[in-house]
Amino acid sequence: MIFELTEEHIAVRDAARDFAQNVLKPGVIERDRDQKFPMEEIKQLGELGFMGMMVDPKYGGSGMDTISYVLAMEEISKVDASTSVCMSVNNSLVCWGLEKYGTEDQKQKYLVPLAKGEKIGAFCLSEPEAGSDATSQRTEAIDKGDHYLLNGTKNWITNGSSASIYLVIAQTDRAAGHRGINAFIVERGMEGFIVGAKEDKMGIRGSDTHTLIFNDVKVPKENRIGEDGFGFKFAMKVLSGGRIGIAAQALGIAGGAFELALAYSKERKAFGKEIHKHQAIAFKLADMATEIEAARLLVYKSALDKDAGRDYGQSSAMAKLYASKVAMEQTVEAVQIHGGYGFVKEYHVERLMRDAKITQIYEGTSEVQKIVISRGIIG
Ligand code: CAA
Repeated sequence: MIFELTEEHIAVRDAARDFAQNVLKPGVIERDRDQKFPMEEIKQLGELGFMGMMVDPKYGGSGMDTISYVLAMEEISKVDASTSVCMSVNNSLVCWGLEKYGTEDQKQKYLVPLAKGEKIGAFCLSEPEAGSDATSQRTEAIDKGDHYLLNGTKNWITNGSSASIYLVIAQTDRAAGHRGINAFIVERGMEGFIVGAKEDKMGIRGSDTHTLIFNDVKVPKENRIGEDGFGFKFAMKVLSGGRIGIAAQALGIAGGAFELALAYSKERKAFGKEIHKHQAIAFKLADMATEIEAARLLVYKSALDKDAGRDYGQSSAMAKLYASKVAMEQTVEAVQIHGGYGFVKEYHVERLMRDAKITQIYEGTSEVQKIVISRGIIG
């Protein structure tokens, strides 16, 4: 297997790093404190072609591979995971799902503005009683001939108020179980669609997470994605790719914390020398670097699987499981290396530690990844 990055990959990574350090970093502490969505920054990401990275240029995208996407996600997440989750949902859940399974009309109407970054998308699967158990959808869409009547509530929806195009999963035939689930494109402004309460979160506080309420929303028939009953498989397929994006996010959070800890260890002196000269810190840094590199290999491997057209359900679950564990553990270590400074906001590592936790929860908890992996290996 070749892990050599091409010149194009390096250019994408450097552009993302530049953007993260120069545009995102200056306001990231304030956005986290005030729970302020990075609207202007997302607009700029769109102009850079980072909101539809893997979409065919004929639909307004950048036509890049998954490795490029992972590299960009990693660099952006080193600084601002609130921005990177918006980017991830738009790229790998919404744009990918529409490009792969949408009709030509759906692509022209919805994918093009999403891929150009002119509009933001959201993916609406989770419900108060359907998180990991995604088949237990309560949201219902009743077939009324030329439209479906959509009723229900979705929870913890990323880009909840910033989005204008929503992919909504709903039950259309309860008796048919997961084969009676469909996916629909719902537009902001459709009558009966209400953006509900915003969550006050521990981490990724710049990202807007909302409850969404659908009260007799008339969704045109042509807004259903795929054949009748395809919705659950659509969600599973979309999430397999989404997990590569979140694994890259976790990798970036861990890498960002490591870079800060390494730099700090070279500045901070204790007992007469820089702290990295103490073995207690040097060994911590060695462990951190090793864990992060191991996670990186899993994440890149999964991206390579996707680009090569191989099945990536297993490798993306493994990458997300491991990278999110590394993010959680290594951000704690980064705070520890910073000592008291690590506990204050100015030094950034406490935010990365708070942000890391969500990577073990969304787009499937670590336990869900273990279900996917164990089924794959046991059969
Ligand atoms: N690709 C295609 N089909 C798949 C699939 C995949 N990756 N995974 C499952 N399926 C199919 C199965 O083959 C099966 O079809 P058949 O009956 O026709 O054979 C059907 O789907 C049902 O599969 P399971 O019996 O395996 O389903 P399950 O109920 O046991 O659930 C699960 C499996 C892995 C736990 C799944 O429910 C799951 O992934 N849950 C987590 C959901 C999740 O990730 N939620 C995150 C919300 S989105 C989010 O977080 C976005 C954000 O805001 C950042």
